[in-house]
Amino acid sequence: MKNTVLTLQQAKNENRKITMLTAYDYSTARLIDEAGVNMILVGDSLGNVMLGYEDTVSVTMEDMIHHGAAVARGAKNAMVVVDMPFMSYQTSVYDAVVNAGRLMKEARANAVKLEGGVEVAEQIKAIVAAGIPVVAHIGLTPQSINAFGGHKVQGKTEAAAKKLIEDALAVEAAGAFSVVIEGVPAKLATLITGKLTIPTIGIGAGAGCDGQVLVYQDMLGMYSDFTPKFVKKFANVGEVMKAAFEQYINEVQSGVFPSQEHCYAIDDKIIEKLG
Ligand code: KIV
Ligand code: NA
Repeated sequence: MKNTVLTLQQAKNENRKITMLTAYDYSTARLIDEAGVNMILVGDSLGNVMLGYEDTVSVTMEDMIHHGAAVARGAKNAMVVVDMPFMSYQTSVYDAVVNAGRLMKEARANAVKLEGGVEVAEQIKAIVAAGIPVVAHIGLTPQSINAFGGHKVQGKTEAAAKKLIEDALAVEAAGAFSVVIEGVPAKLATLITGKLTIPTIGIGAGAGCDGQVLVYQDMLGMYSDFTPKFVKKFANVGEVMKAAFEQYINEVQSGVFPSQEHCYAIDDKIIEKLG
């Protein structure tokens, strides 16, 4: 069954946890979709894990459309959420609506996600008014890495925690149908989840959220540049891949691969004639 804004809201209402994973390509999207994950996020984390940038600041609309469209072609039941990249919505309400529209039309997203609370409430309102579902993203918002001065847990002081609650209430009031809470003390994320009607999706925000999200390369052990405390490795796929690549090298060098079973045949007489 297709996951929609309605089924996800119903999940929160009935106390069923929501699952979300990132994907950036068709094959991975198919695997995640077939596994039954509720939501696939085409995160701007693709800047890090797919393109090798240090942060998400350089990611463009073209990057998001290119990867978003590939994921949308692979997702049948999962809701596909595509991130709005840095400077595609901060600049104005007009830019936000135009760029959210491009992600729907050109990438065939089911929803868009953007970072920020009170300060982007007008953008959220306008995008929602255009008929586009919005996931908000508060707490440690990686596009503001330069303003934060690094990957720092957010909302630890009373004032910061109060601001985070205001952000959560603001994005819900603006019409977001869900909100990602990243890099926030677990008890604060639980408190926020209780104050909101819409589902919260946590990453580094504890088990009290309505759902969880992880970057798939992190949870599969495929990306080792930087591993935050909140990442659990559910498999060591990176090691499995490297071992297979090494075996391929060995078998090609030793002549084991390709063997008869991997070769196409031709009538020997034809070869004799041509020789
Ligand atoms: O870009 C991303 O992968 C994200 C998640 C970590 C929430 O925004
Ligand atoms: Na992101």
